[in-house]
Amino acid sequence: MNKGVNDSIRLVDHPLAAHKLSTLRSEDTPYPVFRRTLKELSLILAVEATRDLSTKEVKLKTPLKETTGKVIDREILLVPIFRAGLGMLDGFLEILPDAKVGFIGIYRNERSLTPRKYYHNIPKVSKDVFAFILDPMIATGGSIRTAIELLFANDIRTITVVSVIAYSKTLEKLAEEFSPNLKLKFVTAALDQELNDKGFIVPGLGDAGDRTFGSL
Ligand code: PRP
Repeated sequence: MNKGVNDSIRLVDHPLAAHKLSTLRSEDTPYPVFRRTLKELSLILAVEATRDLSTKEVKLKTPLKETTGKVIDREILLVPIFRAGLGMLDGFLEILPDAKVGFIGIYRNERSLTPRKYYHNIPKVSKDVFAFILDPMIATGGSIRTAIELLFANDIRTITVVSVIAYSKTLEKLAEEFSPNLKLKFVTAALDQELNDKGFIVPGLGDAGDRTFGSL
């Protein structure tokens, strides 16, 4: 079950997601466990984030009888944001093995908090592709805004941003800002209410990139 915060923001409300989120938040969780848990939670988020995928009907034959079924009818693009978004990619690919994968490298300046895009590689996709941007943390929203604008510039119009924790005010602002031009949705396991003066989400989970890759 999901709580619809508004039409474009979906807060995933599932006991398994809550359990894994607690593991990620705890400072006692060592990085190998953090990395594995981020992958597991991403798989749950992937199921929730793909709820609105469109399907078409197909004819098929079971060993017993002819019948009909449904298959996904669009191309799917996964776009993890370096570095921390990479920790979500494998969970998504587990259930979306046919997805194409693009990459965006964005680094947030620690003082000014402004994002700097240092790399991108987006594969050719059809115009009606369903794109999923993956980044565990949405704080000021600068990084996600940069990623959305890049996909938009590549004619990609159906975008779901998947995060583990988002600062609630940022998400509401982004949803308002882009919704007239895009089919933009946000799926997150948590909406935290505070951003500190260093741009960290509170209570949050710390630096997801450092905790995923052991660079503490
Ligand atoms: C973190 C996080 C997001 C960004 C969120 O990445 O993974 O990409 O900050 O902040 P924002 O919403 O204020 O832009 P960071 O810049 O630390 O890079 P890293 O993943 O390489 O550690």
